[in-house]
Amino acid sequence: MTPRVQTVHPGFVAEISELDISRPLTPDDMDALWDASDDHAVLIFRGQTVTDAEQISFAENFGRPERYVLSYRNDIKLRLDKPEMVDVSNLDAATGAPLSGAARHRMVNLGNRLWQTDSSFKLPRGGFSLLYAHAVPPAGPLGAGETEFADTSAAYEALNPEKQAMLEGMQAEHYLMHSRATLGFTDFAPEERAALPPVQQPLVITHQRTGRRSIYVASHASHILGMGIAEGRLLLIELLETATRPGTTYRHEWQVGDLVMWDNRRTLHRGLAFDERFPRDLRRVTTSDGTEPKRAA
Ligand code: OGA
Ligand code: MN
Repeated sequence: MTPRVQTVHPGFVAEISELDISRPLTPDDMDALWDASDDHAVLIFRGQTVTDAEQISFAENFGRPERYVLSYRNDIKLRLDKPEMVDVSNLDAATGAPLSGAARHRMVNLGNRLWQTDSSFKLPRGGFSLLYAHAVPPAGPLGAGETEFADTSAAYEALNPEKQAMLEGMQAEHYLMHSRATLGFTDFAPEERAALPPVQQPLVITHQRTGRRSIYVASHASHILGMGIAEGRLLLIELLETATRPGTTYRHEWQVGDLVMWDNRRTLHRGLAFDERFPRDLRRVTTSDGTEPKRAA
């Protein structure tokens, strides 16, 4: 049986059904998934049951999983024991209970509420992210912890040619600690700062598989090289706002068993608020750009 691909938002989001992602995939399955991924930046797989190891194996079909940014310290015990597994939950590693206040894990994860693309602060940058829901909070007045996505290729293509020409060759500096500092959180250890130094990324990148270009910005970007801090930051804010215009985004309402896979080179995303008294257990694996396996001829 081949996976079924249903478009949710043309050229941007699709839902894949009739596929169990916990099992090894056949070459035909992978062909269908690569085609779906070339045509859509966000793929939704519902009703899946996967362990952490199975989620990592599924991600490996799309590239090499990178290392979790909070795995560089040995004085803090993580909840999940695999260095590739990003703990996007609001849960305490020791007690499993929801975190509150200034808890470090909570503060770091609050950065996910800002529009970003994963691991723009790394070289190589993030490739695909695969986020899987183990527990989802009930809908409340604050929201239900949905995740919102924006299409940065469509945003680039909608710019006028003068603007596109202006952005050509520009580079921004991206730094994990910058997005956290904008929320007032600066508690990073020397080993974390050493492992995750600021990096430069082009403002416009070309997608290797599709050849489409996209605006490459994120809340991790602090300034533009060769431009004043203020002017550069204003341009970054303008591009982020352009790419995330209301009405152009897709909002994913999570159900337990959903796995959402997105291409970080052609999207932005952010998490929305929720009632933090309830567990929200989402776990992510992100691959590195350029590590996609060669496609069989
Ligand atoms: C992420 C992220 C948003 C969310 O996992 O990279 O930004 O909704 N998550 O939790
Ligand atoms: Mn993210």
